[in-house]
Amino acid sequence: MGLSLLDWVEFMVRWFHVIAGIAWIGSSFYFIALDLSLRKSSSLPDQAYGEAWQVHGGGFYNLVKYLVAPDRLPNHLTWFKWEAYATWISGAALFILIYYLGAELYLIDYEKMELTPPVAILISILGIIVGWVAYDIACKSPLGKSNFILSIFLLFFFTLLSWASYQMLSPRGAFMQIGVTLGTIMVANVLMIIIPGQKKVVAQLIAKETPNPDFGIKAKQRSLHNNYLTLPVIFVMIGNHYPTAYATSFSWLIISLIIIVGALIRHFFNERHAGKKSPTWVIVPIVLLTLMSFALSEVDRPKEDTFSPKKISMIESEFPDDLKETVMEITAYKCSTCHVKNPSWEGMVKPPKGVYFHEFKDLVNNYRDIYKQVAASHAMPPGNITFLEEEERLVYAKFYYKVQEILEERN
Ligand code: HEC
Repeated sequence: MGLSLLDWVEFMVRWFHVIAGIAWIGSSFYFIALDLSLRKSSSLPDQAYGEAWQVHGGGFYNLVKYLVAPDRLPNHLTWFKWEAYATWISGAALFILIYYLGAELYLIDYEKMELTPPVAILISILGIIVGWVAYDIACKSPLGKSNFILSIFLLFFFTLLSWASYQMLSPRGAFMQIGVTLGTIMVANVLMIIIPGQKKVVAQLIAKETPNPDFGIKAKQRSLHNNYLTLPVIFVMIGNHYPTAYATSFSWLIISLIIIVGALIRHFFNERHAGKKSPTWVIVPIVLLTLMSFALSEVDRPKEDTFSPKKISMIESEFPDDLKETVMEITAYKCSTCHVKNPSWEGMVKPPKGVYFHEFKDLVNNYRDIYKQVAASHAMPPGNITFLEEEERLVYAKFYYKVQEILEERN
């Protein structure tokens, strides 16, 4: 019961996290588009900066933006900050539940480093702190004076950070680590820079003082970063279900390419919302970089020509038992602590994702997934916890092609 309960806790936290994320990103997308669509008009009050007209929910909205305090300020002023904080709190809870409590499964890769769970967790926490501190210093340094130079510097810095994570943690752990670091930076921008700045500006406006433009400039820089980081962070959050993206030799570089792709997509919409001509040129680098990500994920992957029929027959000759027996034997040793109806792996009540291997037909049923998890990537066994050898991965690849061959012959 206790473990099913834990499963439910994780599910509910995930549910909450997705909802909070939708609320945060939704409101932030909305305000960016609103801000960019503001137009001047002669009918506006003197202190007003611009207005927007919108239609939604069966009525018209007329929104007016003030950069100085209007004559009359209502008592209730709506702030937008809890969406961001709730997203971070639920995200941190989820990261702890899955990656820290399950560090052996999700964070550690014994083939890379023999870390103990506390050390792996410490590396992860330090990585997040280093990410934020270095980013914050860079923004405040002379580098921050030019958006372009700062972006190039940050892109290099994050590439280095994800490369370092990939040297120490499991592929999936390292991938998520970068998503969590970027997400933390976004929320820290709201908590430490944007909201405190806004509070000071509002206080100055209410006191009828001219607000210090410095707060606005700093907040705008961070808002801009948050705007451009949104899509890459979502890519990582859903990417942990795609070993083809996270568990290959260059996954750390793929993240950086996707940061550029995500930023270009945002740029396209920002320009449109500002009423400018759509920058259709972004399509070219978006397609090229996405293709490059795909190509990078193919490097080092055992693929069809690596497993030429010649090689397969060569490997086959090295296995005296027939393929079926071999693959069943490996599976029994290397997978069945977890992938059986009653797993013996501590803390597991059901086979993960409902995938179990009791009979040969169970393997055939999952032959594509097995190939993706075991041969095309090193996603399974998690962190290679049962020390699956390269030759054994080849056996799974061979198994996959044999199944495919049989299926093709039947057609
Ligand atoms: C220590 C436990 C453990 C071992 C050993 C293990 N797995 Fe898994 N397996 C998991 C977990 C946990 C998941 C779910 C991962 C997730 O949530 O994405 C999983 C998922 C899978 C999936 C389904 C993936 C999907 O997204 O649908 C396949 C297929 C799979 N494993 C194959 C294997 C094979 C083949 C072996 C042996 C070579 C193996 N696993 C060894 C824990 C294990």
